Amino acid sequence: MCGIIGYVGSKNAIEVVLDGLKRLEYRGYDSAGIACLTDGRIKTVKCKGKINDLEQLIKTQNPQLLSSQPFLAIGHTRWATHGKPSSLNAHPHCSGGIAIVHNGIIENYAALKDELTREGYKFISETDTEVIAHLINKYRANFNLEEAVRQAVKLLKGSYALVVIDEKEPDKIIGVRMESPLVAGIMDNEKFIASDVPAFLNHCNRVIFLDDGEMIVLKKDDFKVFDINGKEKSKKIQTVTWTASMAEKGGYKHFMLKEIHEQPRAIADTIRGRVLPDASKVVYKELGISFEDLALTQRIYLVACGTSYHACLIGKYMIENMAETPVEVDIASEFRYRNVPFEEGSLFIAITQSGETADTLAALRFAKKSRVKTLAICNVVGSTASREADGVFYTHSGPEIGVASTKAFTCQIVALYLLTLAMAKAKRIFTADLYSGFLRHLIMLPRMAEEALKLEDKIMELAKEVYRKQNFLYLGRGPLYPVALEGALKLKEISYIHAEGYPAGEMKHGPIALVEEGFPVVFIVSDDLYFDKTLSNMQEIKARDGFIITISDSKDEKLKKLSDRFIYVEGINTYLNTVLFTIPLQLLAYHVAVLRGCDVDQPRNLAKSVTVE
Ligand code: F6R
Repeated sequence: MCGIIGYVGSKNAIEVVLDGLKRLEYRGYDSAGIACLTDGRIKTVKCKGKINDLEQLIKTQNPQLLSSQPFLAIGHTRWATHGKPSSLNAHPHCSGGIAIVHNGIIENYAALKDELTREGYKFISETDTEVIAHLINKYRANFNLEEAVRQAVKLLKGSYALVVIDEKEPDKIIGVRMESPLVAGIMDNEKFIASDVPAFLNHCNRVIFLDDGEMIVLKKDDFKVFDINGKEKSKKIQTVTWTASMAEKGGYKHFMLKEIHEQPRAIADTIRGRVLPDASKVVYKELGISFEDLALTQRIYLVACGTSYHACLIGKYMIENMAETPVEVDIASEFRYRNVPFEEGSLFIAITQSGETADTLAALRFAKKSRVKTLAICNVVGSTASREADGVFYTHSGPEIGVASTKAFTCQIVALYLLTLAMAKAKRIFTADLYSGFLRHLIMLPRMAEEALKLEDKIMELAKEVYRKQNFLYLGRGPLYPVALEGALKLKEISYIHAEGYPAGEMKHGPIALVEEGFPVVFIVSDDLYFDKTLSNMQEIKARDGFIITISDSKDEKLKKLSDRFIYVEGINTYLNTVLFTIPLQLLAYHVAVLRGCDVDQPRNLAKSVTVE
């Protein structure tokens, strides 16, 4: 997820673009850049760091750009997906007299890069974006800018919101959208284009939201929208009534809620390019671990902290059952001091959203010192864990701003599922049919996550009933036991209600002592081999007058009868249900916290990235 903006009009375009980038910084903040037209030439300034660093660089080293008062500029704030954060990888990317900014992921960039390299184009960055600049430049030899952009995007597979400028057509900005957001701001004598409305809302509230496959051509005093074939379209201009801060959160009250709702997109981005379209294969070349290494892996160590540790626990069920490989799971702060004697054929996997958690890094370094192969499942490109591990599998969740992890967690589960299937393939465990059946399930996941989000109204009603309770118990079995842990952690960290997650079968060895009339117990139950056992545990709670809240993909009548409140979630399979059942639990924690008046995005005493021991 990155932020992009373009402006053409009578104001100083650099000032407008810098201001817009600051308002888009929540979309990414590892590097930034701008390009503007002065004296008929494109000038770019880029750097690693935040928009303030870029602004300083312009003021101190390129003040003439500001004083030249350019009327047209584009800018980008980056959240790296391909290539570490650096000024070379920062956008805009240029080719000939063309400059572009891009938000999205180009799945077939490697093949396009090979072809363009053979044709003599020189690549200076490690990004997927640079191929687009060269492609447009290539077609520009025979077509005008609009047609060159159209020809170039026809070759792209993946997602993109693109903004393009050209020295030879200096009065216009072109924007194209495919699966990444792009919105234009329309004023009589100035035009804006950005990934999100807050970028220009302080100047303009009349907007056109572009749909997939649409292209917009903006001039100071004119605009036109085209479909993918170049046919002109009429589009409605809408008036936005949000405040700037509402707009930054996409109209949601908190970043956490926005991030919960972003999960279908985040999951789709994490799967993107990693499963062949016919669901026949996981593409895992980026892991930095060969097919042979995967086949020879005898034991896996999954290590992390907090929510990421819960993903590890889910990974254990997946890998042991599907890839038939033993897995040890540990909390990083424990693992680092345990002096683990690794065996031959071990693979160590650190799971970390930030890639900077001190204990997880220490555990990773211990594994490296022990000469074990290491892998990081990580959300931040260029983070310490991603640099230090032998291989890295990025979850493409985009920046997570809310302190409580939501979309990063569900994408970690997706990464583990992909890894498990790659390993099962390497070990020849599945038939081709079984393997592609599991992959087809994965392809369904973003849509099913959207369905799970539709439960929000029901969850809000439930939250109103329970938000004054002081204690909660969350119970599940098998892969749903870590989901119970995660549901309890979410509730306790943002609402300050004491909540415990437990394996349902273990409940009678202690926690049952807490249960009395009205005591809330959340059961997470699937229609799987644990079903009857969990039903017995529910009976035990019912016998003590506990208040049973059930999250399940089963419509079993006995289950419904035992439940005081029943939330039905459509399931896919035992492993992917961990993602789908987590969504209502995140929503429950969120709405309870809001009703209790808590600071949801920045709960007391917590930090987003725990870089100290
Ligand atoms: C809880 C939460 C934390 C993190 C933990 C690890 O909602 O966000 O428990 O999961 O601090 O952080 P990363 O994954 O960045 O290593």
